[in-house]
Amino acid sequence: MNAPTPTQDELKAMVAQAALAHVPPHAWIGVGTGSTVNLFIDALGQSGIPIRGAVSSSVASTERMRALGIPVFETQEVESLAVYIDGADEIDPMGHMIKGGGAALTREKIVAAMAREFVCIVDASKRVEVLGQFPLPVEVIPMAAPMLIRRFAQLGGEAALRLKDAQPLKTDNGQHILDVKGLRITHPLEFEDQVSQWPGVVTVGVFAHQKAQVCLMGTPTGVQTLRY
Ligand code: A5P
Repeated sequence: MNAPTPTQDELKAMVAQAALAHVPPHAWIGVGTGSTVNLFIDALGQSGIPIRGAVSSSVASTERMRALGIPVFETQEVESLAVYIDGADEIDPMGHMIKGGGAALTREKIVAAMAREFVCIVDASKRVEVLGQFPLPVEVIPMAAPMLIRRFAQLGGEAALRLKDAQPLKTDNGQHILDVKGLRITHPLEFEDQVSQWPGVVTVGVFAHQKAQVCLMGTPTGVQTLRY
């Protein structure tokens, strides 16, 4: 009899476990945000791998790590990180990603920029040929939101303010998120450069400059290691 197909949660757990092999002992590491990273944090806590410390990309990940006794430091206290481990909402064949589904994209990009290597942990549902099927998160200064919605419309995108409890969601940085549907991002580097320059954009959720060097992808036949 064939083995049952693993669920998405089982695939996430597999890559979370596999990511432990990318944690050098006694190193500074960066830790991202999301349900896959939560499983990685739990695995790290149980692993006994001694790390010098972790820098976190969100309040939620900081709290989860501290609850497990993992030492967490501010970005300002650390010069560089050996590795940054995080999930993604989409990843293309070059390792470019869309991130920000959990609203933590600004801190994620900052922490990723401090790391020598980005290890992306995803289940296979996140793999795409061209970025843009997942609505693109963009963190914005609130007063710029209507103007930016019009600019995305000129690119063929339909941007909407992300809400929480019927109010605009506030990020850890006190700003708002636009989610942009209908984009087809064929040139991620150029797209990231262009949108990053629009006044009022804090961070665009295309990670092309901070792309993954390694992706651990959970598939029904096991964890694939992709290098870019
Ligand atoms: C958080 O802001 C995002 O960038 C996450 O990395 C992304 O949403 C992946 O989350 P899951 O692991 O929950 O799919």
